[in-house]
Amino acid sequence: MTDVRPPAGIEAGTGTAHHTGGSGGTEALRETIAAELLAARARTAALTDCVEDADLTAQHSPLMSPLVWDLAHIGNQEELWLLRNVGGRDPLHPEIDPLYDAFQHPRAERPSLPLLPPAEARAYAHEVRGRVLDLLAASPLEGAPLLDAGFAFGMIAQHEQQHDETMLITHQLRPGEPALAAPPPPPAPVDAATMPAEVLIPAGPFTMGTDTEPWALDNERPAHAVELPAYFLDTTPVTNAAYQRFIADGGYDDPRWWTPEGWEHRQRAGLTAPLFWKRQDGQWLRRRFGTVEPVPPNEPVLHVSWYEADAYARWAGRRLPTEAEWEKAARHDPATGRSRRYPWGDGPPGPEHANLGQRHLRPAPAGSYPEGQSPYGVRQLMGDVWEWTASDFHPYPDFRAWPYKEYSEVFYGPEYKVLRGGCFAVAPVACRGTFRNWDYPVRRQIFSGFRTARSLEEA
Ligand code: AVJ
Ligand code: FE
Repeated sequence: MTDVRPPAGIEAGTGTAHHTGGSGGTEALRETIAAELLAARARTAALTDCVEDADLTAQHSPLMSPLVWDLAHIGNQEELWLLRNVGGRDPLHPEIDPLYDAFQHPRAERPSLPLLPPAEARAYAHEVRGRVLDLLAASPLEGAPLLDAGFAFGMIAQHEQQHDETMLITHQLRPGEPALAAPPPPPAPVDAATMPAEVLIPAGPFTMGTDTEPWALDNERPAHAVELPAYFLDTTPVTNAAYQRFIADGGYDDPRWWTPEGWEHRQRAGLTAPLFWKRQDGQWLRRRFGTVEPVPPNEPVLHVSWYEADAYARWAGRRLPTEAEWEKAARHDPATGRSRRYPWGDGPPGPEHANLGQRHLRPAPAGSYPEGQSPYGVRQLMGDVWEWTASDFHPYPDFRAWPYKEYSEVFYGPEYKVLRGGCFAVAPVACRGTFRNWDYPVRRQIFSGFRTARSLEEA
């Protein structure tokens, strides 16, 4: 096992662009941006320096790119948006652009491309970064939409962190001995036994989405009022213990709990348990970053598809929450009527609030992070596991694609389901109450879990 410490950068990165406005704010904003870029790069290095070159160029799963593709793609997007679009520079190596355009080559075909070898990929990303830091030092960070509040820099810091999460998924899929050093486990909850199983969110309007979050991506905009009937929402994500009861009760063999497409998929793919689980001597084991261990009963369930989450919810006499229900529980402050940045308020995520940033390589037990709970008392909305919602990925009213259609717009439609809240692998800069993620309902190599809801009138 290579001794690479887990990336430290996440504590440095807090996504605090929001708090740097006003006079004298430009230098503070530059420092925030530089810290976020540095944090992202430290994490990229930790994820790619801990394995041999052959491991970087191998494809561990047809669902994923070779790690060396992510590495150069990170540099290429940074060059495109910051050096070329913001800085007006000429391309450094125009011949490589098509290789790293995600839309020209699906993941399965990337290993057969003439990709930059690891040393060249690192050197390219490093060269781009040096020039970006020069550009940042000279940039007014205002006067153009891409520059205002440092948006393009924030977008690129988020992009790198998103690919770091993608690379962590590749690490989870790669066979063999662990490559990542094991960080300490997350803290255990203090009062899990006395927590209510669900909370009531009363009927009423709330503000969904944002006009003010400076680094929010296009699909999070604009802010708009949404009126919701009353509903109950689970206090915590569904645990492994609860999910095992669904399995033991024959949930995977009973078409009553599954949508027709879900049942068809369950049959075709032979699903019997979450991905990475294995039954041995009457006990459930799971493989986590190269280590096989008993499934911890009180942790949120991880690596389930939307179809499995949806079937579990129906078995439990409940349903998945809509995206709006999730966001109201996470952001609405009934005392002021305002929507806030995070469940705990407007302040940046700290280690006391949420399990984010790959500080731990696993979700925290259900009920952890009481300081991170929402005004309604809902816990672990941020971090731990991405939460599947009932909703398809659609634009908000008056959505405008910006700055490029390929971030969100080309994905809108009924074939994608929305996930909310981030997981242990999401950096604070790429996580907030408005952030929207999406994937196909069959996907489960992602760090996905869920919580359930029910409407008040069903009570
Ligand atoms: C928002 C996670 C769905 O990884 O496909 C990375 C993020 N977009 N590069 C993805 C993204 C362009 C995106 N997700
Ligand atoms: Fe990308």
